[in-house]
Amino acid sequence: MGMIRRGAKASQCSGVAAKPTLFDFDQACTCTRDNGRRNINKPMKLERVALIVAVLALICVGWSSIEVRKVQARLNRMTVELPQQPLPNGSGGSPSTNLEERLKKLEATAPSPGLFMSAVQLHFAKLYFAGEARNWDLARFERGEILEHLEVVAALRPEEGAVSVTGIMDAFKNTQLVALKDAIEVKDRGLFRDAYRESMLMCNTCHQATGRPFINIIMPTNPPVSNQRWDATVPGGK
Ligand code: HEC
Repeated sequence: MGMIRRGAKASQCSGVAAKPTLFDFDQACTCTRDNGRRNINKPMKLERVALIVAVLALICVGWSSIEVRKVQARLNRMTVELPQQPLPNGSGGSPSTNLEERLKKLEATAPSPGLFMSAVQLHFAKLYFAGEARNWDLARFERGEILEHLEVVAALRPEEGAVSVTGIMDAFKNTQLVALKDAIEVKDRGLFRDAYRESMLMCNTCHQATGRPFINIIMPTNPPVSNQRWDATVPGGK
């Protein structure tokens, strides 16, 4: 049966009337080599078209994947760059302007000299009760704290208008604070009281000079805190 069919098809191939249709694959395959060439052409065209379409599709896929990668790279760069955006001052944001902006912000958030002055006030009051109780170790400590805090104030506010805060501070450090130190070292309460009063006058001199006569320091009447001992465990001195 197969033999008969193959024979019939072979005769069709050679015949003009029996031209194979475009989709007659079976015929193309069963035709003999010689006269099949011409007939194979049409199905081959379809294959070529399919091949070209496939190649085009591949090119399209490749191209779009490259594009996607490009967009991804751009997005990555943007997310990395975003936190480094300059401060919103609209000045173009060069590194120097950024530094200036940051410095301004730091200055704006720096602690007020008044904060350190309040600490000076507390240490100055404690110093008085330490001296009165002849607790020279505590007096030495409190004097040191006053000096440290005054130095911070001078650094934070070197000038007050035309007045040199640093200059007055240096005078204070080199005179009254030295007299206090000497009195403490020789453990002399009389000298201590004198030096303390002189220091207090200097506090107010600077407040007046810097336009704050209303900050008026006086001799303390009560201890600044109730939870600290003023007298020394080992008493000594005059
Ligand atoms: C060289 C100048 C100078 C000297 C010396 C000085 N002060 Fe002041 N003090 C200032 C200035 C300036 C202020 C205002 C600070 C501010 O504007 O925040 C001030 C503020 C103060 C305040 C007010 C703080 C507040 O915010 O309530 C007190 C209290 C004070 N000083 C105590 C003292 C005492 C106590 C001494 C001496 C041991 C002293 N000061 C020595 C310059 C000085």
